[in-house]
Amino acid sequence: MTDFGKPLKIDPHLTLSTRALASPMAGIMNPVFCHTAAALGLVRNWITPFISISPGSVPSVKALTGKLAPFRNQDALIVQLLGHDPVTMAATAKRLSEMGIPGINLNFACPSPLVMKNGNGGAVLANRKLMREITACVAEAVSGKANLSLKIRCGAESPDELPEIAGIVRDTGINFVIAHFRSVKEMYGPVENPLDRLKKLRDLLPDPVLIGNGDIQSRQTAEQMVEQTGCDGIAVGRAMLSNPFLLKMICEGNDAAATEEDRMIFLRSALQSARDLNCDSKRWLQHSFIEFARMGFGVNSPVFRKITADPAAFAQKLAPITEK
Ligand SMILES: Cc1cc2nc3c(=O)[nH]c(=O)nc-3n(C[C@H](O)[C@H](O)[C@H](O)COP(=O)(O)O)c2cc1C
Repeated sequence: MTDFGKPLKIDPHLTLSTRALASPMAGIMNPVFCHTAAALGLVRNWITPFISISPGSVPSVKALTGKLAPFRNQDALIVQLLGHDPVTMAATAKRLSEMGIPGINLNFACPSPLVMKNGNGGAVLANRKLMREITACVAEAVSGKANLSLKIRCGAESPDELPEIAGIVRDTGINFVIAHFRSVKEMYGPVENPLDRLKKLRDLLPDPVLIGNGDIQSRQTAEQMVEQTGCDGIAVGRAMLSNPFLLKMICEGNDAAATEEDRMIFLRSALQSARDLNCDSKRWLQHSFIEFARMGFGVNSPVFRKITADPAAFAQKLAPITEK
């Protein structure tokens, strides 16, 4: 049985605290989510959602510090960059490495039509010349200062592209790859024999640390991915939205479902985090609190229905604020 809770040293710059990671999710990994996850020990190493880098515009140290604040804890942080201009991305990565960030990750995976239209994410995976150029340029900029990893999908159009993609990984000396088994074109659709693709990638890239990603729902599916592909670990995305405790459970080798009490603790902690961060406005209660309730309990639960009926009353009952 894989011990997902065991640390994994990648190089002198980056050691993962566990072999099960939270896959980055823009919009979901907001300050309240991060604060809550930290309070409950749900995520150790953060890989930030992508920071978009426009050509010629390197974010200031102040701007980067602000963006990264929610993700700071005692575990190594990996900052993800999205863009298509090698020089600006390299300068940003260098700045981050000089700020002491141990891991930089390049997003060559995002299938969002808007991201693709701007020539970023999955569009870079489709343009192998550019992918090679960006990777080489950023690798040189952070060499000796930080780890550089890639987030990829198994091809832009199809997994037939894997040998060429793996060649870029090898030639640029990348030692850490996170790979989602779908191609960019497949978006989030169904795939036959998805694990064969990650196995193929493992065979093409025996040396780098390879983290498999896609449709992990449980400790068993995490175990299956590692056993059948030879990946070193896994990254969980969407399943965290219906069970925020999943990553922690995978790391602890725990198969049990999160209890109602755990889920209530999650919701109370989210509410407390929002208060600590001064964002528990009426609007937050009506929108984000309900999103946290959806995450914790699911839309079909009586608790969720009770919360949507009157979020403010539920919040007051869950964690009373007493007048001073
Ligand atoms: C709402 C949402 C936002 C995402 N944002 C990012 C992102 O910022 N960077 C990234 O590399 N992947 C992003 N992803 C992709 C996930 O990290 C992950 O690769 C994908 O969802 C497949 O894993 P899963 O099946 O476990 O969800 C996002 C996915 C979702 C659903």
